[in-house]
Amino acid sequence: MTDFASWMRAQGARTEAALDAALPTTDTIPHTLHEAMRYAVLGGGKRVRPLLVHAAGEVTGAAPEACDAAACAVEMIHAYSLVHDDMPCMDDDDLRRGRPTVHKAYDDATALLVGDALQTQAFLVLTRAQMLGAEARMTLVAELAIASGSVGMAGGQAIDLQNVGLAMSRDALEGMHRMKTGALLRASVRMGALCGNIDTAGLTALDRYAAATGLAFQVVDDILDVTADTATLGKTAGKDAANDKPTYVSLMGLDAARELAEQLRTTAHEALEGFGPRAGRLAALADLIVLRQN
Ligand code: IPE
Ligand code: IPE
Ligand code: MG
Ligand code: MG
Ligand code: MG
Repeated sequence: MTDFASWMRAQGARTEAALDAALPTTDTIPHTLHEAMRYAVLGGGKRVRPLLVHAAGEVTGAAPEACDAAACAVEMIHAYSLVHDDMPCMDDDDLRRGRPTVHKAYDDATALLVGDALQTQAFLVLTRAQMLGAEARMTLVAELAIASGSVGMAGGQAIDLQNVGLAMSRDALEGMHRMKTGALLRASVRMGALCGNIDTAGLTALDRYAAATGLAFQVVDDILDVTADTATLGKTAGKDAANDKPTYVSLMGLDAARELAEQLRTTAHEALEGFGPRAGRLAALADLIVLRQN
């Protein structure tokens, strides 16, 4: 087994190539829309969700080629969610992945349409996943649709916006974070696993890992908004406080938020115990998600 850093680099390159191939070229009409879609997706981001897809695939014996479609589809939905999240009607951010946000580099209407088009492209990619059978593709489509929609990411974003300036209960905040961010990370793990062979008990255990890791991701995102600088983040630091957002840091303070992220990391590791070495990458990704600096 290659070491984790080399694996991450190789998977990053693999995902970049797969996304490049899965997006319409800039020669395709309308040129500007396709250019902006590629701008939103290519050449940036940590690619955590594709890494989770591939690492979960390793647990269930799925070849990397069998996981590529799921990895691309989840990253396209994620990229779309960022484009919309940054728009003036939502978080109103100018910087993303170290570059001007899509509505700044283009305009609001283009940003809206980039999100729309990336979302449908994601599902198209899943329906064309050559390495998977028809039933598996249907299952992946349903997993991604639920995680992205009104009971997942989009629903969580709605709750986020409804609660600007309000004090949320701890339970309500947790529910919001599980939806707006946790759902797509959880879907990444489940979809990767479903590209191979797994029984119900195995999927339940992976799901426990995924739920803990997904929530931890947004807890850490809230922490980094306060502790990291704009250059390191590639997005404007301090935006949550400026926008009066309900976050784990605003609700519980930095120390308690850090403690929660650590607890979730432990829960994630415990959930993997039955899998042995084949879950090594997933374990390392839980560490990366909690210990990351950006
Ligand atoms: C940022 O996600 C938005 C959240 C869901 C918290 P990432 O931190 O994964 O962003 P990229 O993909 O690396 O830019
Ligand atoms: C975003 O949460 C969750 C999404 C669905 C995009 P944030 O609004 O905290 O993400 P950043 O901090 O702008 O990346
Ligand atoms: Mg937001
Ligand atoms: Mg935001
Ligand atoms: Mg944030």
